Amino acid sequence: MKTLNVELNDRSYPIYIGSGLLNESSLLTKHIVSKQVLIVSNETVAPLYLQKVADHLGDYQVETVILPDGEAYKTLDYVNRVFDQLMGKRFSRNATLIALGGGVIGDLGGFAAACYQRGIAFIQIPTTLLAQVDSSVGGKTGVNHPQGKNMIGAFYQPKCVIADTEVLDTLDDRQLAAGLAEVIKYGLIRDLSFLNWLEEHISKLVGRDKEAMAYAIERSCINKAEIVAEDEFESGVRAILNLGHTFGHAIETGIGYGKYLHGEAVAIGMGFAADLSQRLGCLSEQDVDRVIALLEKTGLPIKPPEEMTTEMYLDLMSVDKKNLDGNIRVILLEAIGKAKLPLSVDRQLLVETLEQYKGVA
Ligand code: NAD
Ligand code: GLY
Repeated sequence: MKTLNVELNDRSYPIYIGSGLLNESSLLTKHIVSKQVLIVSNETVAPLYLQKVADHLGDYQVETVILPDGEAYKTLDYVNRVFDQLMGKRFSRNATLIALGGGVIGDLGGFAAACYQRGIAFIQIPTTLLAQVDSSVGGKTGVNHPQGKNMIGAFYQPKCVIADTEVLDTLDDRQLAAGLAEVIKYGLIRDLSFLNWLEEHISKLVGRDKEAMAYAIERSCINKAEIVAEDEFESGVRAILNLGHTFGHAIETGIGYGKYLHGEAVAIGMGFAADLSQRLGCLSEQDVDRVIALLEKTGLPIKPPEEMTTEMYLDLMSVDKKNLDGNIRVILLEAIGKAKLPLSVDRQLLVETLEQYKGVA
C-alpha cells in the first residue's frame, strides 16, 4: 500500500492506494469518529461493494442511502434524500458519512456531509479510476444545476481517501478511459515526465496492467495533492486542474447530463484547449497532434458533438466558476507539460476554435 498525504495543516489527510484495501478494517475505522455511520452509494456500486465495507462496521449504527446511478441525479433533490436519512435516524454532529462510489457519489455525499449540521466527518472510498485520480482528492464537493455543472457546492475535505485498485476490475472500458482523461490532464498541465511515461505506457493502462495502473494513480494523486496543498480554495494555481473543463462542462450541460461521461467531455475539451493554445502561438501543430494522439489511444472521443453550436458553447461557457466580470476564462497550455493560469481570450480566437476545431476520426 502507498500512503500519500494532502498537507492542509489541521485538515491534512491520507490517501491510501493499494490492491485489496477494502478488506482492511483498520484503515476505515481509525477515521470514524463516533458510532453513527451513513454509507452513501448508488444502485450499481452498492451490490458490488457495500457489504464489504459494512462488514468492518459491526459495532456501529450503520445506515445507508442508495441513490439511482448517474450524473443526472447529482442534484439538490438527491442531496435531500441524504439529509432525510440523517435526520430520520437522528444522526448527530459527530456522525461519519462514507461516500462509496464514483465522482458523482463522492461530490454529492461530500456536499451533504459539508452541510448537515454545518459539517460532519466524511470518508471517500472512490470506486472509479476518475474518482481515484481526481474527484475524491481535494475537497471539491457539490451538485449540478440545470443551467450549469457543479454550480452549487462547497470546499470540504474528507478525513481520508481509500483507493482500492481492485475495484477497478468491475469498471467497464468506457469508464476506465474516462478516468484516463484526467490522468493525461496532469501530464499536460504540469508533469512532462509523467506525460512521456504515459505515451510509452498507454497501451498497458488501456489493457489494465496492474503495476502501470497503480503507478498512474499514485502519480496523479501526487500531482493533485501538491496543487491542493498550494491552493486549496482555487485562488490561483488550482484552476489549472480545469484544463478542458470549461469546454467539457458546456458539452455536459448542453447535450444533457450523462450523455457524455465527464472524462469524455474533458477529453474533447482538452482538444479544444490545445487548438486554442496553438492559435495563441503557444503550441505547434505537432504539439496539438501529440495531445490528440495520446487521447485517441485511450479510446476517448475527441470529436466535438455535432449538436453543440458555437452559440451554445458561448452561452454555457459564460456560466463557469472561473469567469470574472462576465468574461469567459479558460485554461490553456503555455507548452506541453505547462498550463497557463485562467485567461480571458480574444473572443474572435475562441470562436475560431469553436467553429474550426473538429478533432479527428
Ligand atoms: P460516476 O460516479 O457516474 O461513475 C461512473 C459509472 O461507474 C457509474 O455508472 C457508476 O455507478 C459506475 N461505477 C462506479 N464504480 C464502479 C465499479 N467499481 N465497478 C463498476 N461500476 C462502477 O462518474 P465518475 O467518472 O466517477 O465521476 C464523474 C463526476 O465526478 C462528475 O460529476 C464530475 O463533475 C465529478 N468530478 C469531480 C471532481 C472534484 O474535484 N470533486 C473532479 C473531477 C470530476
Ligand atoms: N478537479 C478540479 C479540482 O479539484 O480542482
